[in-house]
Amino acid sequence: MLDLSMIAAVFAQRKPGHSLPQALYNSPDVYEFDLQAIYGQSWILAGFTCEIPRPRGVLALTIGRSPVVITRDRDGTLNAFHNSCRHRGAQVCSDGAGARSRLTCPYHQWVYGLDGKLVHAKDMQPSFKAEDHGLKPVHVEEVAGALFVSMAETPPPFDRFRAELEPLLAPHRLNEAKLAHQNTLVEKGNWKLVMENARECYHCAVGHPELSLTFPIGEAKGGHFAKDDDPRHQAFDAKLASLGLSKGPHIGPWWQVERFPLREGQVSLTMDGRPAVKKLMIDGDDPDVGSLRWAIEPHSFCHSTSDTTVYFSAMPTGPHETLVTCKWLVHQDAVEGVDYDVERLTALWNVTNLQDRDLVEMNQRGVHSLGYTPGPYCEEGESYVQRFVDWYCDKAQDFIAARTGIDRRPMSISAVPASADGAHVTAPGLAATPGLAMTLAFAGEAAAAEPWPDAS
Ligand code: FES
Ligand SMILES: [Fe+2]
Repeated sequence: MLDLSMIAAVFAQRKPGHSLPQALYNSPDVYEFDLQAIYGQSWILAGFTCEIPRPRGVLALTIGRSPVVITRDRDGTLNAFHNSCRHRGAQVCSDGAGARSRLTCPYHQWVYGLDGKLVHAKDMQPSFKAEDHGLKPVHVEEVAGALFVSMAETPPPFDRFRAELEPLLAPHRLNEAKLAHQNTLVEKGNWKLVMENARECYHCAVGHPELSLTFPIGEAKGGHFAKDDDPRHQAFDAKLASLGLSKGPHIGPWWQVERFPLREGQVSLTMDGRPAVKKLMIDGDDPDVGSLRWAIEPHSFCHSTSDTTVYFSAMPTGPHETLVTCKWLVHQDAVEGVDYDVERLTALWNVTNLQDRDLVEMNQRGVHSLGYTPGPYCEEGESYVQRFVDWYCDKAQDFIAARTGIDRRPMSISAVPASADGAHVTAPGLAATPGLAMTLAFAGEAAAAEPWPDAS
């Protein structure tokens, strides 16, 4: 049983604008807490429609320590369940994608339908009720070919996210994609160090010489990629408009979606800047449409260029260990060895991920030090890191407050426009002023700066 008051005390030590207190990066209790309060309460980008395109498709993954399975029913309906048998709890489906007409637990062969109902349990006593032992449901949503699940009883609102992601992602036709390759990497670092590293490009110029060829590392300090007075960005905007592609940015409480131009003359995030796939994902034959970056807290980012979508997901597997999964999607008609080569398709992110793994592991070793003290983030270069840790701390403290009443966040009362999104919470017991909402502004939010695009 987690001691939430102890964990609340750790969060109370947090200094806004600074890296987190040591225990948040290395305590086993905090790891357990994160599985419940963060991964158990968020939307997770579980995979893609093309991994289970047809009825009877099954996609299983493990979120933290919780196996989850998504099924596509005989009529095409998506369902998701805790992948834990209602007999004695065994994992029913091993992780990965496949096709099945039933889900049979390998242990004692209880059989479930793709709708989660228990349809057979051999030799059970007459008092046993199969209808009481179906797989436990998990929330699932599909957006433009991407599959999201949430294990929360009441997940975060999804509609605004869908409305903001769908128009930008739909032109990349993930519904017509196939999974060209996936791999995993074990990083000996806490998942938050993996994600902090993934949310900044302060380290890119030195840390990622290969990525620096294509990624506009130096072009976007202190704000979005868009620059009103930059003729190159104006030309990019005009081109997107002529192609009917939206750009964003859309920055939500737990997502960021934005299309941006790559470095001059580069059209894909590859080792040489050229497309890795001949058959494009988007309409037309112009591959030069930049990259759509869509990033989801707590665990993922994707880059959708004209030729491919690359997926990065970080799953905690221990207090100091994270499993990183990468997937590459290409058009379903692209033929390996003819239209693309897996080595060329994956080379840039493989080398970048290995470089990042080394940085994360180095970070973790130093964070374990008796001499570790939280240090200041670079406001310009690490604003997305600040956004991530602010989101993390707020979500964690919301979880604690809802269960214990303990809320040790420093508060100030301020008035903000009523349309302000989830960054502010209406103060309980305070009457709203017409046109304004009285809110509690937490210290963590004050540190949230303009977002800065990251390399990952
Ligand atoms: S644990 Fe699944 S059938 Fe026994
Ligand atoms: Fe990196």
